[in-house]
Amino acid sequence: MYPLQNLHTFAFPAYAADFHLVGSLAELQESWHSSVNQSYYILGEGSNTVFLEDFDGCILKMAIKGIELQETDEEFILKVGAGENWHQLVEWCLAKGINGFENLALIPGTVGAAPIQNIGAYGVEVEQFIDSIEYLCLVSGTIKHIRRAECQFAYRDSIFKRALAGQFIIGSVTFSLSKHWLANASYAELRELAEPSARDIFDKVVQVRQRKLPDPKKLGNAGSFFKNPIIDKALFVQLRQRYPHIPSYPVNTEQVKVPAAWLIDTLGFKGHKIGGVMCHAQQPLVLTNDGTGSGSELVALAKKIKHAVQQSFFIELENEVQLVSNAGLVHI
Ligand code: EPU
Repeated sequence: MYPLQNLHTFAFPAYAADFHLVGSLAELQESWHSSVNQSYYILGEGSNTVFLEDFDGCILKMAIKGIELQETDEEFILKVGAGENWHQLVEWCLAKGINGFENLALIPGTVGAAPIQNIGAYGVEVEQFIDSIEYLCLVSGTIKHIRRAECQFAYRDSIFKRALAGQFIIGSVTFSLSKHWLANASYAELRELAEPSARDIFDKVVQVRQRKLPDPKKLGNAGSFFKNPIIDKALFVQLRQRYPHIPSYPVNTEQVKVPAAWLIDTLGFKGHKIGGVMCHAQQPLVLTNDGTGSGSELVALAKKIKHAVQQSFFIELENEVQLVSNAGLVHI
């Protein structure tokens, strides 16, 4: 039995039946055929995965490293191993004068996990920089490449969560960053910066995140627990009659995005606890574990919030985090 408590940032005590460190896709490809029927879960740094209880299969912990840099007159091209730490890559780029990732500073997790949920923050999503992704196809056992245009990127979504779900292990991500950098300081807290450099944006993002989001090393959590729901404008107009201050962000002509934090906050859940699991008092989109919590308490609190939001706003909240039970991914 392999302890998982230190391998996921929610830090519930849990064990896996088996554990394997993945150093390269080729090595995995070789062993793949013999273990194809075994249940497995691919783990990066466990910052978006919660082990609710013991896991009966094998944990494949991603450890593929390496950064290869090439450049043309127009762009920097980076091929990065899936097991590299995302924030360290952001810092490495900044130090080399490669700009673009600065809005995505301090997002926990690995490079390989970044495209799966299309990580995003402060007005930028990682898809903008992705050129292609190398992965082991678990159906054919071959190594394949997929280009950005085929990845179906959307808000916290990609083909890896849809048609390819359960059929891939990402080995590396190739990014392309333009040498004609333009600051993106349109998001609320960044607007106060005048003609910022990439370093100014990086520093501000780090400061805002450290202020708002609890440090998983001190308090178990997995960042935003729910996605911000995208709803029809007709429903939004109806809701605004009852809640004149409801915020929204444009998506397209028919839909708007509503901050889940506002919905949860409005229903008074800040600081609400079930056992050792709590809705964070500063950022209610984050659920936390004080070190004594359990998977069942987390599921109970998440269901309670979802139910209340459904009753009051007719909106179904979706998890952003991946919840894993004894047999694998679960939906609540
Ligand atoms: N809000 C409240 N009450 C609060 C906090 C926020 O009502 O206590 C409302 C406000 O209307 C505020 C809005 O929520 O304007 C947005 O808040 P914030 O800027 O903190 O962003 P968010 O929508 O809650 C998203 C991402 C974060 C990302 C931030 C910044 C999702 C699910 N979450 O949060 O990502 O850091 O924007 O870009 O999209 C993560 O994915 O783990 C994550 C932390």
